[in-house]
Amino acid sequence: MPAPLISPSILSADFAKLGEEVRAIDEAGADWIHVDVMDGHFVPNLTIGPAVVKALRPHSAKPFDVHLMISPVDLYLDAFADAGADHIIVHPEAGPHIHRSLQHIRSLGKKAGVSLNPGTPAKMLDYLLDLTDVVLVMSVNPGFGGQKFIASQLGKIEAVATMIAKRGLSTIVEVDGGIDPVTARQCVDAGAGALVAGTAVFKDGPAGYARNIAALRGD
Ligand code: DX5
Ligand code: ZN
Repeated sequence: MPAPLISPSILSADFAKLGEEVRAIDEAGADWIHVDVMDGHFVPNLTIGPAVVKALRPHSAKPFDVHLMISPVDLYLDAFADAGADHIIVHPEAGPHIHRSLQHIRSLGKKAGVSLNPGTPAKMLDYLLDLTDVVLVMSVNPGFGGQKFIASQLGKIEAVATMIAKRGLSTIVEVDGGIDPVTARQCVDAGAGALVAGTAVFKDGPAGYARNIAALRGD
């Protein structure tokens, strides 16, 4: 089983020194930098917008994995692309035309992602998968870090990985929420190629980042 890519979520970082935190996880071996964007409407929490993504951009050359939990989402796709997002991930429930949103993200030269909430079935991808570079399977309900992994999502990870293999696509299955070394292993066994982790990476402060990222990778 190849080692998963690790995308630490800066939602669990020290917001008073985000630039420093992004540099620290980059140096500690992060593959991607996961940025959780929340609007207090699509999810019950508020975080950051494109200006912060732009300010963080010079602090790492690694791909910015930008998870948009905002509705309506379409109005902001260009702004996040301009700010330096590499992956732009949207929820099907966050706009009226998810197919068009994915087409638009690709037309901006960015990798297009679809995020499935725990209650959203894999079937949602039937007519979207060919336009999707990353499927983000939510293993918690979006909105907050530090929640418990919902084990029923393992079946969805498997179903999505099977759909991708059947179609011969190179879409990556990424899993977000409640990832620790144990659930990480379960997700990889189910077919995940990338894992988001907030708490499990940041919990011990900067001295623990490299060790915690390695533990998620299964090193
Ligand atoms: C939840 C976010 C996650 C979250 C993960 O809405 O999408 O990225 O930060 O945090 P942990 O790893 O603490 O569950
Ligand atoms: Zn996320």
